Amino acid sequence: MSRTVQPHGQIDPYDYYRASQSGSRAEQAFHRARLRLIERAAEAAGRSVLDIGCGTGCLAVPLAKRAARTVGIDLSAEHVAMLRDYALESGVSVEGVVGSGAELPFPDDSFEVVLLASVVHLVPEPGPLLREAERVCRPDGRLVVAGPWRWHPKASKTVKRLLGKTVETTTFPFTVERIQGGLLRSRMIERLVDRPMGYVATVWVPERKPGT
Ligand SMILES: C[S@@+](CC[C@H](N)C(=O)[O-])C[C@H]1O[C@@H](n2cnc3c(N)ncnc32)[C@H](O)[C@@H]1O
Repeated sequence: MSRTVQPHGQIDPYDYYRASQSGSRAEQAFHRARLRLIERAAEAAGRSVLDIGCGTGCLAVPLAKRAARTVGIDLSAEHVAMLRDYALESGVSVEGVVGSGAELPFPDDSFEVVLLASVVHLVPEPGPLLREAERVCRPDGRLVVAGPWRWHPKASKTVKRLLGKTVETTTFPFTVERIQGGLLRSRMIERLVDRPMGYVATVWVPERKPGT
């Protein structure tokens, strides 16, 4: 896979989707566990889903099997091209969009499920991504913000061992308080944790006053 420069200047050559399908047994187990957690958090069956920072589609492609509509957006054109290929290979429909999570090309309240997985802890300023995710998520929809439970040192080591790579530098401590600080009007309703691999998925519901 060719290398992709991420907005914070790091290069991420890791193809999450391919690793989940044909990586080492440990990698496949890691991605299966992560997908299970996200599936529980997203409750995507029959719903419209937006996956922000979708990468190569490790989550968007399997979620599309049961969702009514799935859209993946990523800054990287290469990742989006691969997402489209993988969706085709899997026989599911995923709309791939090249663009920034900080300026989403969708109207307010466009999706029932909005996913930010392994993204907000990597960018220098997560606020704009969180607020855009909140804007396009329907009131009473599910906004899922997920990432490695990095303050848990044992879990972090487990992730490194499983993936056999250097885990990206966290610029944003992945805590509920920090996510809450980036959101304007959402309430957290669930926090799911996979302890062995140290991954956490928080579920938020955007609340709007009538008429706004
Ligand atoms: C670590 S990968 C995670 C991929 C996928 N969400 C998953 O969990 O398998 C992070 C992805 O976020 C994308 N990304 C980073 N900043 C972004 C932004 N501001 N807008 C859209 N995508 C972004 C990167 O290009 C990369 O594909």
